[in-house]
Amino acid sequence: MMSLQIQKTTHPKPLPKSSELGFGKHFTDHMLTIEFERGKGWFNPRIIPYSDFQLDPAASVLHYGQSLFEGMKAFRQQDGSVALFRPEFNWDRMSKGADRLCMECPPKEMFLDGIKTLVKIDERWVPKEKGCALYIRPTIIGTEGFLGVRPADRYLFFVILSPVGAYYAEGLNPVKIWVEEQYLRAAPGGLGWTKAAANYAASLKAAQEAKKKGFSQVLWLDHTRKYIEEVGTMNVFFVFKNEIVTPALDGTILEGGVRQTVIEILKAQGRPIVERNLSLEEVQTANSKGELIEAFGTGTAAVISPIGELTSSTWSLKLGNGKIGPLSQKLYDELTGIQYGLRPDTYHWLAKLM
Ligand SMILES: Cc1ncc(COP(=O)(O)O)c(C=O)c1O
Repeated sequence: MMSLQIQKTTHPKPLPKSSELGFGKHFTDHMLTIEFERGKGWFNPRIIPYSDFQLDPAASVLHYGQSLFEGMKAFRQQDGSVALFRPEFNWDRMSKGADRLCMECPPKEMFLDGIKTLVKIDERWVPKEKGCALYIRPTIIGTEGFLGVRPADRYLFFVILSPVGAYYAEGLNPVKIWVEEQYLRAAPGGLGWTKAAANYAASLKAAQEAKKKGFSQVLWLDHTRKYIEEVGTMNVFFVFKNEIVTPALDGTILEGGVRQTVIEILKAQGRPIVERNLSLEEVQTANSKGELIEAFGTGTAAVISPIGELTSSTWSLKLGNGKIGPLSQKLYDELTGIQYGLRPDTYHWLAKLM
């Protein structure tokens, strides 16, 4: 990468206890920032102490929502080294999302080298305990100050790091999911397949109302309210008697890295994994025939999250007697085994820091 300036903090923070990590509450000592200006390209790559930004109040991110982020993790390996999990997947998704939002994304090498250097500098923050990891949050925002709806000519790419524990307080226990029939996360032709900040703003109301009713997350449906899309901030898999189904990517669903990983693991194991449309009605019918075995969500934050209950305004079904299903457990063990270097990385998903 063009000369990366590094300014180390003179006030390193104390490390939080691993039992008190939670998710996204603590941030490391440093952050990466790179600027972009149309006509000039990317410039001024810096690693600096974690700090506030100065931003023009007219910056396009604040008015027209030009904001796109990623979520990935670094894991402490058995030999004490640190590895990123499939970082190229995240670059690829960010770069496609940036194009959809008329934003700029740093080239792949700049993205990967910048993140690796940052994680190396803050390496002491990568937790050692299984179940914990260093969450990496690359973000791009439009920083040009102007009013008027058009793509900005200036962007800031920044990366912050957060040591994290379990995403759900329930841990690997099954979660209760509210079937959301009113609010929609994303519509055809919109931004659903990108990690645009706007999608998360659109999701808050439904999640808040579901929490009030005692549910952890919502099951998002498509615009006809018939087909299943995602569960909260996770992709979703249903295990039926004869096949395993995850909704096909249709432009409204976010293509998850863990979704892709789980599909590849299931295929390699010769299991019948199918990407297709899946209706609520089909799930209910299979359940009433005893042919719905288990269901789980997949995402970087929670890895695998078993679903114990699906409830809508008119019906409810329970799965797995309050316990994680055997396939969910197997996938969790395989995936986390690879991530922490406990099992062979036969798929070459780990990117070790040099
Ligand atoms: C809406 C949504 N769906 C699915 C996922 C899962 O994606 P990944 O497996 O890349 O973490 C996420 C992010 O975690 C998300 O925000």
